[in-house]
Amino acid sequence: MEVGCVRSPRQQHLRKQVAALRQSRQCAIIPAGVASDGAVLSGNGFEGDVEQIRVVGKANCVSPDVRLEESEGYMKAAEVLHHFQQIGSWVNWNNSCDRFLHGDPQTEVAGIATGWIPTNEAIKSAHAKGLNLFVTHEDAFARRYEGTRSGDEMIQQKKRLLDECAMVVVRCHDTWDRMPEYGIPDAWAAYLGFETEDRPVESFYKVCRVPSLSLAETARAVLEKVRPLGQDTVLLLGDESRKVNRLAVGTGAITHLPTMRDLDADAILATDDGMNSWDGALWALDLGVPILVVNHATAEKPGMQAMVGHLSRQFPGVPAEYVDVALPFRSVH
Ligand SMILES: [Fe+2]
Ligand SMILES: [Fe+2]
Repeated sequence: MEVGCVRSPRQQHLRKQVAALRQSRQCAIIPAGVASDGAVLSGNGFEGDVEQIRVVGKANCVSPDVRLEESEGYMKAAEVLHHFQQIGSWVNWNNSCDRFLHGDPQTEVAGIATGWIPTNEAIKSAHAKGLNLFVTHEDAFARRYEGTRSGDEMIQQKKRLLDECAMVVVRCHDTWDRMPEYGIPDAWAAYLGFETEDRPVESFYKVCRVPSLSLAETARAVLEKVRPLGQDTVLLLGDESRKVNRLAVGTGAITHLPTMRDLDADAILATDDGMNSWDGALWALDLGVPILVVNHATAEKPGMQAMVGHLSRQFPGVPAEYVDVALPFRSVH
């Protein structure tokens, strides 16, 4: 293995050097920040304007559907999933939903869109911005409805739209659900603005240290934070005057209430898809555990927004932008 180091603030210059290296040495390139043994180089892989490039004989790919082959100095969509595979040591890559959902992984990436789900509107928006790789947290196709007339129609319609826009879609769910700092749980807790405790990488949950607010005050503090995300209400279950010092915070469809309570929490911030009323609320009311609830998308959007910063550092010169969707539901009072 050889390791090359290129110092250049300009991506075009860098790409030319990468192309020359490829031509002369018949090798594959792994983007900065990723070592062939799976280690992440110096956090995000960059220090100042130093861009490190590891040049190896051929990249070993974990997933059979991703291969880094020779290219003409441009970045392929496959390199993005390969990057997730390299950093996602907490993911079972033999059984992961993080994979290409549509399009050719060997497509040259003009720009990356990140988003919670690729609605047709989001796809059109990404296309209008000149982005052609959509990194989605949730699935692109409503597979639970597959086999119904409307479900199949929706899937075919979206595939046609993706083809028309030449949009490649890759899912990043398992990687981002536990990715330190930029990933879904850490970004969500940071977004809320409370002081937080460290999270073991295997955990989906964070503990926020609330400055001794009542449950109602905590709910209002959360509401003010989530309004810019489109969430205009926070649901509350329990005694509003109850003091909260430790708020267990979860995201997505995985706000398992007993696990969150075991974090010595006074209250829980769950999501609508992560708990249900028929046993979750029963558990909470009988045990006297206060619960706040926001929408699934609300809790995961900050992580997909933070992904832009991460990808921009990993793939400098490749535009990356967050694309929003019309969730959560608005409420009518
Ligand atoms: Fe989710
Ligand atoms: Fe998630």
